Amino acid sequence: MLPNACNPQRIGFQTRRMALRLLILAVAAVDAYTVLHLADFHLDVDYSTKGDASKMCHVGNQTAKATLGSFGDYMCDSPKPLVQHAIDEAKRLFPDPDLLLWTGDNTPHVDGYDWNYVMNAMNTTTTLLFSKFPKTQILPTFGNHDYAPANAFDLSSTLYSRTWDLWSKQLGDQNKATFLSGGYYKLRLKNATAVVLNTNLYYNANKAYGNFTDKTDPAGQFAFMEAELQAAEQCPNRVTDNCTSQVHIIAHIGPGVFERSPNFTWFRPEYNEKFLNLTTRYANSIGWMIFGHHHTDTFHLIKDQLGNVVQLALMAPSVTPWFSDLPGAGANNPSFRTYETDDYGKISDINTYYINLDDLNKNASTPFVFEYSFKQAYGIFGDVTPRKMSDVLENMKKNDSLFQTYINYNSVLWKPAMPQGIYRGAQLCSMEWSDYPRYDDCMKLYSHAAQKFTIPIFSLLFYVLNQL
Ligand SMILES: *[C@@H]1O[C@H](CO)[C@@H](O)[C@H](O)[C@H]1NC(C)=O
Ligand SMILES: *[C@@H]1O[C@H](CO)[C@@H](O)[C@H](O)[C@H]1NC(C)=O
Ligand SMILES: *[C@@H]1O[C@H](CO)[C@@H](O)[C@H](O)[C@H]1NC(C)=O
Ligand SMILES: *[C@@H]1O[C@H](CO)[C@@H](O)[C@H](O)[C@H]1NC(C)=O
Ligand SMILES: *[C@@H]1O[C@H](CO)[C@@H](O)[C@H](O)[C@H]1NC(C)=O
Ligand SMILES: *[C@@H]1O[C@H](CO)[C@@H](O)[C@H](O)[C@H]1NC(C)=O
Ligand SMILES: *[C@@H]1O[C@H](CO)[C@@H](O)[C@H](O)[C@H]1NC(C)=O
Ligand SMILES: *[C@@H]1O[C@H](CO)[C@@H](O)[C@H](O)[C@H]1NC(C)=O
Ligand SMILES: *[C@@H]1O[C@H](CO)[C@@H](O)[C@H](O)[C@H]1NC(C)=O
Repeated sequence: MLPNACNPQRIGFQTRRMALRLLILAVAAVDAYTVLHLADFHLDVDYSTKGDASKMCHVGNQTAKATLGSFGDYMCDSPKPLVQHAIDEAKRLFPDPDLLLWTGDNTPHVDGYDWNYVMNAMNTTTTLLFSKFPKTQILPTFGNHDYAPANAFDLSSTLYSRTWDLWSKQLGDQNKATFLSGGYYKLRLKNATAVVLNTNLYYNANKAYGNFTDKTDPAGQFAFMEAELQAAEQCPNRVTDNCTSQVHIIAHIGPGVFERSPNFTWFRPEYNEKFLNLTTRYANSIGWMIFGHHHTDTFHLIKDQLGNVVQLALMAPSVTPWFSDLPGAGANNPSFRTYETDDYGKISDINTYYINLDDLNKNASTPFVFEYSFKQAYGIFGDVTPRKMSDVLENMKKNDSLFQTYINYNSVLWKPAMPQGIYRGAQLCSMEWSDYPRYDDCMKLYSHAAQKFTIPIFSLLFYVLNQL
């Protein structure tokens, strides 16, 4: 008899068994992890169907007849029924997500409100969301409007202490000190650490800047972020009791430039640079970087000094449809999304769901429906990585049909129009460069002089090619 090892039948059996074992291991290792994300509710309790759409649809100055939809209007912020419907629909589609990200801005785009008004918006949205997902770990954070007045995030604010009462059960006592001092915290997830930041402190419109005692690092938040990233880099195994090798960064405002308005930035330049320096230095220890704030659907690549793509910041579209009158901006359809990830945060796909607001106003039973998947829309094989999104962007620059696909989703299918000239530049340069100096260089290619020069040459080239 031949020794076992040389028995062909036996080898076949062993190979099959090994393959099966590998398959089982592979399935076990890529344990799917669904992260649900709701962004920018902007609940407006003064919304009225008799309101004036040019004045935030408010109950004051009302018309005799109700002409606006009871679920909202593209010109205005979300009435409660829209917030409720979005949460109900998220629950219907994802009854038991592994994690829920809630990136803030629950207060509407109006002026002159006080603390009670903000706290009412915070409490109403918190109650709606927490009661709908009682068993889900929720990671909440503040948006720049969640303050009285808006955009005045100070240190040790009353906002942090009053909101602590609403959120402490989700965040845990270990986060009390950082939360009360600057509204930020961390939370150990299964195999990664979520670092949830209050980036409203870095906003260039923040009125409390003058009050910061340490202007290079307000509330010590950068030091906190760096300490977490350093701990992740030094974590001996991928996961131990007291460390993880992956950190996820979550906040309301992300680094970089608004993609719809040329040269319209968010963070103060020095904070943008510092944030990107940290991201670049510890890029390998960062899993996902997820933000809201834009209301639109876009992403920013983060590149090192040599131009290598090292990270990817994802901006999720909003629930509020509110029309922004910033140059090149507009309204959007209400939406939310999920990230399909593994235990460590590798993103295998991003799926966005939306509702056409006009349809909802006609029929209150209209469901949120699937809008698109990153993988399908952008033809990505394997995981959604910074490198692959960079390839997608390079293709967008050359292929208007792919760019149009992105533009359709950018406003969640609300009147998508191909941007021209500097507006095209604003889109493409904001995705490619999160740092301001290289964004500015990129924008120079789309300035009027450059436009006059390049368009005829491309037209001529097209003409010549068409003759061949
Ligand atoms: C009604 O409109 C006028 C003029 O735009 C404005 O000054 C006033 O504040 C509005 N009133 C309310 C209650 O919104
Ligand atoms: C929050 O809202 C709930 C439900 O409406 C209410 O019972 C509770 O008193 C409110 N809490 C605060 C702190 O306002
Ligand atoms: C993820 O972390 C848990 C402990 O939090 C551990 O039991 C599990 O083995 C880890 N998963 C993987 C795939 O390492
Ligand atoms: C700055 O601090 C002072 C004193 O605490 C406070 O009264 C003021 O409202 C703060 N300014 C802003 C813009 O928050
Ligand atoms: C983690 O715990 C181990 C012992 O369990 C300890 O040696 C190590 O210093 C700890 N690391 C951190 C970052 O706290
Ligand atoms: C960012 O890093 C560069 C290069 O190391 C350095 O020159 C710059 O001072 C850093 N900026 C900030 C704000 O830390
Ligand atoms: C309203 O929408 C629901 C869900 O799509 C549908 O079943 C129902 O027939 C619609 N009602 C009307 C009056 O169109
Ligand atoms: C352009 O992108 C579309 C997808 O939007 C794709 O179907 C087409 O093949 C691309 N064209 C080229 C020349 O790559
Ligand atoms: C934006 O910045 C670029 C580069 O600095 C400049 O050429 C352009 O005129 C600016 N555009 C607007 C609309 O401010």
